[in-house]
Amino acid sequence: MPSWRKGKHIGYCLNDKKKKKLNFQGFEDLCRKRGYEVTEIDLAKPLCEQGPFDVIIHKLSDLILESSYDSQSHQLIRDFQTYVETYSSIILLDPFPAVRLLLDRFESYRLLQDFQKQDSCIFSPPYVELNSGTGREAAARIREQGLTFPLICKTRVAHGPSSHEMALIFNEEGLGAVSAPCLLQSFVNHDAVLFKVFVVGSSHFVVRRPSLKNFPRGESARRSIFFNSHSVSKPESCSRLTELDEATLESPPPSDNVVCRAVRGLRSALGLSLFGVDLIVEKQTGRCAVIDVNAFPGYEGVPEFFSALLNHIETLLESYEQAARARVLVAEYSLHQRAPQVDSAPESTHGTDPRAPWMANSLETPKSAPAESGFFTFAVLPAVLSRH
Ligand SMILES: Nc1ncnc2c1ncn2[C@@H]1O[C@H](COP(=O)(O)OP(=O)(O)OP(=O)(O)O)[C@@H](O)[C@H]1O
Ligand SMILES: [Mg+2]
Repeated sequence: MPSWRKGKHIGYCLNDKKKKKLNFQGFEDLCRKRGYEVTEIDLAKPLCEQGPFDVIIHKLSDLILESSYDSQSHQLIRDFQTYVETYSSIILLDPFPAVRLLLDRFESYRLLQDFQKQDSCIFSPPYVELNSGTGREAAARIREQGLTFPLICKTRVAHGPSSHEMALIFNEEGLGAVSAPCLLQSFVNHDAVLFKVFVVGSSHFVVRRPSLKNFPRGESARRSIFFNSHSVSKPESCSRLTELDEATLESPPPSDNVVCRAVRGLRSALGLSLFGVDLIVEKQTGRCAVIDVNAFPGYEGVPEFFSALLNHIETLLESYEQAARARVLVAEYSLHQRAPQVDSAPESTHGTDPRAPWMANSLETPKSAPAESGFFTFAVLPAVLSRH
């Protein structure tokens, strides 16, 4: 067994629904088969009694959302955060700030707009944020920004049952029925096909799903359509809204090059390892639009998910160990160079870490990093090491 795998402890914290949907027991079994200790974290008990952990996987979106108005959830999230900050060599999949950002559509769509300025391989459909009042008050802004009907209305909060309640609006009158906080986004015709890209570290998987049908561009007298997004884009979805009015050839998926660039760019912009990107291909232009990004999605239709997740964890563990070893060598080398000062060297302040001594030297290691980061450290160190 390689040293970076020996005695390693993986903790996970998922709600019952997520565990059941993913059949997470299968992942536990796979980890144990490869020699890892696995523990389901109980948030009601102190984390320090359940660890120490080398890796923690979580989907705490419900709790993170609740923590903004519920003091008990707030305390649980704070305790969790304090724990991972104290033992900063823990690999956390994924860091809370990035997960929190994706719970707010205003934040995530701003990030997508910024991303498209850097890389035009994809675009984010234009939208208007509505902070207060009804959509009617946003009519002037919609015109000013050149948004055309139909518009799709999405709530600001991107997680939880009501976040999937949406509306298709075909005229200014329809705007009166939507209320803040929400956003109004240009509807992009895409032949009723959605491409869900599921990312696991440096791997990704593309799965085809049903999606909303095409609608004529421009204002029309049509009445607004209110729908739940889960009735249109889940694998089992069956809705009149996804039946095309006209016969079309099966839409080709976006090119590998576009998907890879989008995934790579979003991974580094978000600092996430586990996320999903929803892509559609614009009918008129063939351009690829990102309409949604989710933290730790369902990975439905990705049978390789567990092996990809464990491979990603192993890549991180291995690169963390290499980086920690490199740091020890560099430290030894510099001590050696400054031999007379050795006696006055300050004592290590890393005594609070109950884990292996080499881990205590990795306190500056980011809590969660894309697989590349360990290799980056390694790429800049060989010159130093070769002198050792
Ligand atoms: N700008 C758009 N143009 C055309 N169709 C869109 C657009 N935005 C969303 N849709 C359609 O609405 C569906 C739901 O949108 P979105 O992915 O934003 O919602 P969601 O509820 O957050 O999804 P998820 O279940 O992935 O969290 C999409 O799958 C797609 O069919
Ligand atoms: Mg979606």
